[in-house]
This record gives sequence, structure tokens and C-alpha cells, in this order.
Amino acid sequence: PKSVSYICFIGAGYVGGSTAAVLANQCPHIQVTVVDKNAERTKAWQSENLPVAETGLLDIVKVPRDGLRPSQRKNLHFTTEVEESIQQAEIIIVSVNTPTKAVGTGSGYLLDSSVLEDVVMCIARSARSNKIVVEKSTVPVGTGETVRDILRNNAHTGVKFEVLSNPEFLAEGTAVQNLLQPDRVLIGCLETKSGFLAAETFASVYATWIPRERIITMNLFSSELSKLAANALLAQRISSINALSIICEATGADIQQVAKAVGSDSRIGPHMLRASFGFGGSCFKKDIRSLVYLCKCLHLDDVAAYWEAILNINEKQKSRSVARIVSRFNNNMNGKKIAILGFAFKENTGDTRESCAIDLVKGFLHEGASVSIYDPLVQESQIREDLGIDCAADGGLDNRLTICQSGEEACTGAHGVLVATNWDTFRSLDWDHVARVMTYPRIVFGSSACLDPNVLESMGFTVEIIGKKVW
Ligand code: NAI
Repeated sequence: PKSVSYICFIGAGYVGGSTAAVLANQCPHIQVTVVDKNAERTKAWQSENLPVAETGLLDIVKVPRDGLRPSQRKNLHFTTEVEESIQQAEIIIVSVNTPTKAVGTGSGYLLDSSVLEDVVMCIARSARSNKIVVEKSTVPVGTGETVRDILRNNAHTGVKFEVLSNPEFLAEGTAVQNLLQPDRVLIGCLETKSGFLAAETFASVYATWIPRERIITMNLFSSELSKLAANALLAQRISSINALSIICEATGADIQQVAKAVGSDSRIGPHMLRASFGFGGSCFKKDIRSLVYLCKCLHLDDVAAYWEAILNINEKQKSRSVARIVSRFNNNMNGKKIAILGFAFKENTGDTRESCAIDLVKGFLHEGASVSIYDPLVQESQIREDLGIDCAADGGLDNRLTICQSGEEACTGAHGVLVATNWDTFRSLDWDHVARVMTYPRIVFGSSACLDPNVLESMGFTVEIIGKKVW
């Protein structure tokens, strides 16, 4: 395959920005430009204050961006100049957002690939030489064909395009680690001579730092579906253990013990068997919905219902968690205060998209409780925006919602505390102090991943663990 000297990313979000940074860091011989239409975001990537809070990312970004390697020119650039970047690049990686469609056919289910299609159109119109166009965004299965048609029908005379699929599997919170040492990289191509060659060319870039056997090439549509399938299976595991946690709470079995028992089976394995308030994040829900939509389009209603059940269990886990705490207060939360520790959808990230905490807080506010929230990374403005609409509708809500600067502050005067995100800092909170500043009945509620009931009970707390009956 041809050697590559210039790569352009379009979309400097979580995925595009982080991936571009690692690529530029690992491939000093390649010039990497990341284009975003959002000038503020582009600027943030050029600063010390990156738009994405990931451990180690700033160090990775700085080397290629600021030219920190001796005798090495800068090879990571952030810009809003889309046309010029497209023209220079041999490979263009599209990593724009693909949210769930809000209106029209497929609304609420289908991934909206219109932003991606606009970008592809822009590539077709700007390119003056042959390009490899890579779908990195998560897309509906079959999008590769649409992309190819747009490129073909709008290309300048003589300009040829190859379309590849290269879905991203990084997990927020461990993005840098995942990008440096991925379990696998998928590259999907059309099964033509030029398609295989394009896949090889792109694979050679990854092979700079990833063992060749972890770079898997396959047909374009398998690759597109594999991304949805991976997220559906990961979410399914979470919903499965949470569905079992409901049975545990009702029968006296303990989900931690059950998880250990089933996870010891080498066919099942121990990962992702931690009962929780449910999954959040920008991807699982929307990707499963996209899969459900595909099944419905194929008239596979029973298959659609099978995947959709994962989402239903996830919703139930949140609502029944609120109900469990409320029942502890004789179903009356007026005058009661609940502290929520953690607002991001998981630990080590500041991302709140689809975070369980949003629904949990809304649930308690709806019941009439006061809520105080603390998260180590999420700004007050973000929390208010995420809760926004309902706050406005409900008069006097502002008095019942406080955003705090520490876990201890949030717990002061609270009747109950719910650990919504399993941050290490909550595990090592000064729980003795918290016991003193909280108000009876001092209920602590959360996952066994973060809370040790024996220790907490000895301090005078009433402890409620997900998946464990309280006698
Ligand atoms: P994001 O919303 O953080 O970033 C998307 C970026 O694209 C934004 O900065 C936006 O300004 C930019 N953009 C939109 N339209 C544009 C245009 N016309 N020209 C230039 N830039 C444009 O999204 P994120 O989280 O990075 O996700 C991107 C894709 O990757 C999605 O399809 C998502 O499903 C997928 N993905 C996300 C993962 C995650 O953990 N966040 C993991 C794996 C895949």
C-alpha cells in the first residue's frame, strides 16, 4: 500500500479529537489536521483546557501539537478551514456526531446521519485528487453505500473515492489507554481490488503502533453492524445483571455473590457484571435504538423487541431505585434532602450525556425532595442545563436544588445520600465526618463497587445496596 503523509479528521469531538491526538502522537511522519465547524471547540483543543477531560490526554496532545519532540515539526493542527484540509489529505476521517433523529421517519430510533452526509458532500465538492473517506462516526448499517453514492455523484471529473468503515470502540474515562492499546481495530471496505487496497493503506497507519493481528479487515457492512452489535451486547450484559439484581432484592440473594458465581464460568467471564443504577453515556441507548429500528424495517418485530428490552430494563432500574429510597421515607419526601454524589454518566469523565443521575435527580425532585449534587468534574452550569426543562416548569424548584463544591458539603443536612457515579474519591470520602453532618435516618444508597456496607453500618448509616435485600 501507499504510504500516507496527510490525514484529516472532520469533527473534533470526543472521538475525533482524541483519536487524532493519539494518531499524531504515534505517527510523527504524518500531518494530522482536525477540522470542526465549532470555532470555540477548535480553540479549546489548542489550549491547556481541552474540551474533553480524559486522563493523560493533554500530555498526548501537546507533543505533536506544540512540537515538543526534539527536531520534530508540529504535526497536529486544529482548524475550522474545511476545504483546504480536505484538499491536502489523502485520508479523511469523518467523526461528526450522529444523534438519534428527532423528527420524521425513524424519529426516536434511527441515527441521524445528515451531518455526516453534509460533510461527505463537502468532501466530494472540495476534493481535487483521489481520497480515502473513512466513516468513524457510528452510522446506520448501509450508510457506506449512501456515502459512496454521494461521493460518486458529486465528484470532480477524474477524482476517485474509496469508502471505509472504521468504527470507534474507545470507552470514555479510559480513552487514551483504549486508543493506544485497543483490543482491536476494525476496518471495513467494499470487496473490490481498490477497496482492499484502501483498507491496507489505512491499516498500515494503525500498524505504526498497533500489532497487525489486532487490525481486522472485513466487509463494509459487517464493520458498520459490528459497532452496533458491540454496544448492544455490552448494554445487554449491564441490563442482564441489573435484571438479576431485581430478583436478588426480592428474594434475599445477593447480586455480588451471584455475579461472582456466574462470572467464574470461563464462558461468561467476570467483566461488566456489576449491578448499577443502569448504563448512561451518549452511545448505548442511541445505538441500540438504531438496531431496533433496523430490525423493524426488516419486519423482524420479535428481534426488535428482544433488543429493546435492554433499554426497558435500564429505565426500570432508575425508576425503581428512586422508589426504593422513597419507600424508606414512608413515601413522603417533603422536607427531606437527598445528596447525589456524582453526576457524570460514569467515573473519570465529565460527560453527562444520558447519565442515570439526571433521571435519579429528576425523580427525587418530582417526589418533593430537596437535592444537593456534587461531581468532581461536572460544572454547575452543565448540571443545571441537563436538569433544565423540568426546573423551569416547576415553581420553587430552585430552592430545592443545590450544586455543591464537595461531597461533604452535599451531604450536610441530608437524610439520604445516593452515590450515582463510582468515583474513587467517594470510596475514600471522610464517611465518619459525613455521618456527623447528615440527618437521621442517614441512608446511604449505591453499588457495592463503591460502598462497603459493613464499614458504613458500623458508623451508624443505614445502607442500601443495589441487588441486596435489606432485612
Ligand atoms: P461530539 O458531539 O463530541 O463531536 C462531534 C463534533 O463534530 C462536534 O465538535 C461538532 O461541532 C462537529 N461537527 C458537527 N458537524 C460538523 C461539520 N459539518 N463540520 C465539522 N465539524 C462538525 O461526538 P462524539 O462523542 O465525538 O461522537 C462522534 C461519533 O463517534 C458519533 O457517531 C458517536 O456515536 C461515535 N462514538 C462515540 C463514542 C464516545 O464515547 N463518545 C465512542 C464511540 C463512537
